[in-house]
Amino acid sequence: MRTTGAHVLLTGATGTIGAALARRLADRGARVTLLARTPAPLEALALATGGTAFAADLCDPASLEGLVARVEAQNGPVDVLLNNAGAETTGLLTDLTAEQLRRTIDLNLTAPLELCRQVMPGMLERGSGHLVNVSSMAGVATFPGLAVYGASKAGLTHATSGLRADLRGSAVGTLAVEIGPVASEMMDRIGLYGPSEAAFARILRARLLTMLDPDDVARRVVSAIEQGRAHLRLPRRAAPLAAVTGTPRAIARIALSGIATRHSSDALPSRTTR
Ligand SMILES: NC(=O)c1ccc[n+]([C@@H]2O[C@H](COP(=O)([O-])OP(=O)(O)OC[C@H]3O[C@@H](n4cnc5c(N)ncnc54)[C@H](OP(=O)(O)O)[C@@H]3O)[C@@H](O)[C@H]2O)c1
Repeated sequence: MRTTGAHVLLTGATGTIGAALARRLADRGARVTLLARTPAPLEALALATGGTAFAADLCDPASLEGLVARVEAQNGPVDVLLNNAGAETTGLLTDLTAEQLRRTIDLNLTAPLELCRQVMPGMLERGSGHLVNVSSMAGVATFPGLAVYGASKAGLTHATSGLRADLRGSAVGTLAVEIGPVASEMMDRIGLYGPSEAAFARILRARLLTMLDPDDVARRVVSAIEQGRAHLRLPRRAAPLAAVTGTPRAIARIALSGIATRHSSDALPSRTTR
């Protein structure tokens, strides 16, 4: 999918990775709708990148309802949905409140799927579109303190794979982004919980993962969209681990429907069959 001239709906736009994505997409000539909750940083980012600010709380069902329709009424059809908003909860499950548990799943899993659900009919009708879900290596491997966050990201990766199977033969593409630790406030917060801090220190020392640079992540995500790749796994040294985790999904996909060709139309979904 070409990003030049494309309308991209980018969630979590003002965060570390989101802002880097917004800058990269602007460099590529995309028209970006920037979504987050807090208006001031959104307006500043819109000014800096030429994007359009759209304030919304993805954990609020009223705000989520009809969100894509409101964005499209304002800025035109969405060509690329880039579900990047996400948040961690770190600690033992019993350290979390019921509200924290619910919001983590709402933001990291329910909201991106709901936005996919809202945007897909228009994309299928127009015969073009791309769904990008930013997941995590924490959805591949288990890290102490990240049970809920990891579960939400594992769910998002799995759902993206399911959507890919459902959309096979259609002109709507999917990309699952599975990334390791990025130099960010999120990692700083995770580091405040001793067992998580020790686990990441150990894994970084062993060089099984490396600390990623947000601008580099953004450059690779945009390039993966442009190349129509199904997966982006960073850092590259951890990609085989994520690929192994994804192997049962790939085997099932091939067993159930054969090896995909780019233009196969054997499972073209239609709006009337859902
Ligand atoms: N940082 C890492 O090391 C890392 C590693 C792997 C994967 N990831 C994933 O990469 C993505 C971006 O991470 P990041 O480090 O850039 O996060 P971040 O800096 O904490 O930014 C989060 C973004 O999401 C927005 N947001 C938070 N809650 C929201 C809500 N309820 N409704 C709408 N927007 C909301 C925030 O803005 P407001 O607060 O103004 O709403 C902000 O723009 C996430 O999905 C994360 O899970 C990150």
